[in-house]
Amino acid sequence: MNNTTPSVQQWLESHAARLKSRPVPELFATDPERFARYSREFGGILLDFSRQRLDDGALAALLDLAGHAGLRARITALLDGALVNDSERRAALHTLLRVPGATPVTGPLAPLHMEVLAVRARLAAFVREIHDGTRHGATGERFTDVINIGIGGSDLGPAMAVAALHPFHTGHLRCHFVSNVDGLQLADLAAELDPAHTLVIVCSKTFTTQETLANAHRARAWIAARLGEAAVPAHFAAVSTNTLAMDQFGVGADARFEMWDWVGGRYSVWSAVGLALELAIGTAHFENFLAGARQMDLHFRSAAWRDNLPVLLGLLAVWNRNGLGCPSHAVLPYHQRLARLPAYLQQLEMESLGKRVTRTGQAVAADTGAVIWGEPASNAQHSFFQLLHQGTAAVSMDFLLPLQGAADNSADELVIGNCLAQLQALMAGHQAEDPQRRHPGSRPATLIAFARLDPAMLGRLIALYEHKVFVESVLWDINPFDQWGVELGKRLCGPILDALDGHAPPEAGPVESRPLLAWIRRCRQDTGGAAAGSRSTEGIS
Ligand code: F6P
Repeated sequence: MNNTTPSVQQWLESHAARLKSRPVPELFATDPERFARYSREFGGILLDFSRQRLDDGALAALLDLAGHAGLRARITALLDGALVNDSERRAALHTLLRVPGATPVTGPLAPLHMEVLAVRARLAAFVREIHDGTRHGATGERFTDVINIGIGGSDLGPAMAVAALHPFHTGHLRCHFVSNVDGLQLADLAAELDPAHTLVIVCSKTFTTQETLANAHRARAWIAARLGEAAVPAHFAAVSTNTLAMDQFGVGADARFEMWDWVGGRYSVWSAVGLALELAIGTAHFENFLAGARQMDLHFRSAAWRDNLPVLLGLLAVWNRNGLGCPSHAVLPYHQRLARLPAYLQQLEMESLGKRVTRTGQAVAADTGAVIWGEPASNAQHSFFQLLHQGTAAVSMDFLLPLQGAADNSADELVIGNCLAQLQALMAGHQAEDPQRRHPGSRPATLIAFARLDPAMLGRLIALYEHKVFVESVLWDINPFDQWGVELGKRLCGPILDALDGHAPPEAGPVESRPLLAWIRRCRQDTGGAAAGSRSTEGIS
């Protein structure tokens, strides 16, 4: 869009003004076909947006906006491997990871696809060997436990999916996830697990991430202290773009799995970063997970925008953010096994859309990414739903509802009944005499319903959100594939650590932090926690 084009907010203004004073129940009352007209189905997913404060005029404006923003060309650029990550001059080819071997890939993506398939084959062989016991620990014992060490995209994707697909676990292995730099997750696991039966996967695109390296060295020391230094290679696998660092860490060549700079961390669960998931559910189910995502990719590329689930979900997000002014968006799965989905989407959405300049470095003309949060909805009904019903905060919502998958049939009914009741209350509100009991209604909520959560369905759902985020980024003209915002804090940490542990005097820290650093050093000395130079990644045996 050029400078004379109205901003997203201006584009939507008149529609928002019209709809802000139209309660959603009225929209239903004047349109008996509203559910049919404002819902779409693809791949077993129902996207019901009939409870959004939306009418045909607003939807048409959003579709026009997408056209003016060049969405068609941007989708093609993304899927064809153009350098859509402008600031890093990289492609964002997570979709290539889901193209099966049987699908011919021609042109410049062909050699990359061959590399993807080669790594996939090595992963499948590795998983098979662990499952059948031909690959085992240094003492000859089978692996029973896997610890994935990683953070951000190298943790959230596999952790979310391993929990979500629990009914599909093969039963060979239990998977654990360690991300926090404080070392407590690993300390708890070390107290519980037998290193002789434990495989550690160090997952890091860069292999330079401080939190991951600290935990990896702790785990290495744990294995070495219990089983001897020579045992280390048999108990470690690694996933990274950084072969040299994996090598230096001591991971054997046959347990190192490559990823590529054209796979963003938050889009990496489809790559070897998904190894813990593949170990948990087996290769056949992992391939179904990829196949589900691939189905959504094809739909995203070719379906008319009016029927295109990711396009519609992205447009709804822009509508709620810029048209109706909701800075906050809740993700509410009616399924305990999707408990980590909100955290996963927090990284996907907020690292991608938390931007304030356009792709060419101009200040953005509209508000960008919303704050994403959420919890399993059954529990949330009894905590923060009060605010959703009667609070003054403007929050948009996604309700995710599997029709099967609870503990039994009657539990499924309880789940469905609660979800529909909440949707109804949020939409219709309640006109009580007593102001305390009055509910305004017309709260913007989308329902995403599906028969059951299986690997293919999870793949479709995650790809749906990935592409939804891309659509938003196109309408805001921002780069969703970089994350410069997290770099500054990382850089500042080094000098602060030096000043904290005595490698440097407190004066070496940032001037504003020096009195605080001096206070912390004093306190730590008083409590015996602060030997100079005590920063370490030492063992936890
Ligand atoms: O801090 C942000 C980030 O770079 C994420 O984008 C990424 O997923 C995470 O850190 C972990 O990075 P790596 O996989 O390189 O360890």
